[in-house]
Amino acid sequence: MSNTKNAVYPGSYDPVTNGHIDIIERGLRIFDHITVAVLTNPEKQPLFTLDERLEMIHQCFNKNPRIKVDAFEGLLVDYVDRKGIHTVVRGLRAISDFEVEFQMALMNRRINREVETIFLVPSVCYSFLSSRLVKEIYRLGGSIQQMVPGVVDQRLKEKFHSPKKHPALTEKR
Ligand code: PNS
Repeated sequence: MSNTKNAVYPGSYDPVTNGHIDIIERGLRIFDHITVAVLTNPEKQPLFTLDERLEMIHQCFNKNPRIKVDAFEGLLVDYVDRKGIHTVVRGLRAISDFEVEFQMALMNRRINREVETIFLVPSVCYSFLSSRLVKEIYRLGGSIQQMVPGVVDQRLKEKFHSPKKHPALTEKR
């Protein structure tokens, strides 16, 4: 059996934020490899396409051999089973996250008892940060500096100025 410690860090990453990156960096102190697993959810209409989300994460880690970036659809427990990695990392920003995360961790374990969830706490400066708020602040003209990596800032600008705007960005900035 391999002694390598691996974990999956799943999420929507629409888009990846500095809070996600902080959790990944903390995770690398514990795990040898982290697979950042981006959910393809056919029921949601994300701002960024799956390819864009994957690419932005790749760019943030500049081919770090300890980080893999992957996409998944369907149940997370099935994905981790296929990968043979039964440790899931999630970030816990505040008490408000706890209820949802606790329910998800227990439900995942109920479906597959091999799956363990490890919660990591981000730096306090990211404890209020979410992809949803980043998009809202950007759309309404606020500054998102220090909240997202440069590549995400750039991609948001491009989306916003593209002639074919996503409905989430249609309000005047
Ligand atoms: O970034 P998010 O949106 O908080 O991530 C949520 C995610 C992707 C981890 C969660 O929605 C998920 O695991 N979805 C896959 C479908 C699934 O397994 N649902 C049952 C959860 S108990």
